[in-house]
Amino acid sequence: MADVGAEGGRSPLRVAVLASGEGTNLQALLDGVHGAEAEVVAVGADNPQAPALERARRAGIGTAVFPKDAYPDRTARDAAISAWLQEQRVQLVVLAGYMALLSADFTRTWSGRLINVHPSLLPAFPGIRAIQQALDYGVRVFGVTVHLVDAGVDTGQILAQCAVDLPSARHESEVHAVLQPLEHALLCDTVRRYARGQVRSDPEHPRRMLVD
Ligand code: GAR
Repeated sequence: MADVGAEGGRSPLRVAVLASGEGTNLQALLDGVHGAEAEVVAVGADNPQAPALERARRAGIGTAVFPKDAYPDRTARDAAISAWLQEQRVQLVVLAGYMALLSADFTRTWSGRLINVHPSLLPAFPGIRAIQQALDYGVRVFGVTVHLVDAGVDTGQILAQCAVDLPSARHESEVHAVLQPLEHALLCDTVRRYARGQVRSDPEHPRRMLVD
């Protein structure tokens, strides 16, 4: 893969966020990165009720909704999302709790410019309900991952991870409460580094990313 990240960094990186729910990761980006290294220029959702949309509107950011039932299939919906992102000259797409699977066409189009935040230490516990999966497995160390998105489910190259010891955790909500601020910080930090052009492929290893 070619180097990823912004070049030169003269103008702020144009970022779009796709979300399905609360949008606390979007809010972290709005509070911590927007207007500095990056500009959140668009927020899209599959769910018209997503509170993330209201957070975007409050910040004066354009929103769009792409409901599943408005399109014949995933490919058609993702083509519409892609066209909308391209219209707005988006340079980086952040999946921040976007819970719909994306088509291979979409991930190919945005390859190297598409990142996701996931509440586990990948490759453990990909997919939905990652925290519950980890609790069910009986792990004692939890964590979060920010990664590039490829055609698989949470299989893209890892950009950043953060782990936390929670040996006696029992409930999803208590783990979530600990992980949430960690993922907010990790996502903001990764987007800042991407915007500064500090994210690139390791020529010596096909999966490893170098993040300065
Ligand atoms: C976050 O915990 C994020 O890691 C998770 O959804 C939550 C969204 O929260 N994403 C996934 O599980 C993706 N597989 P938010 O809407 O408050 O940002």
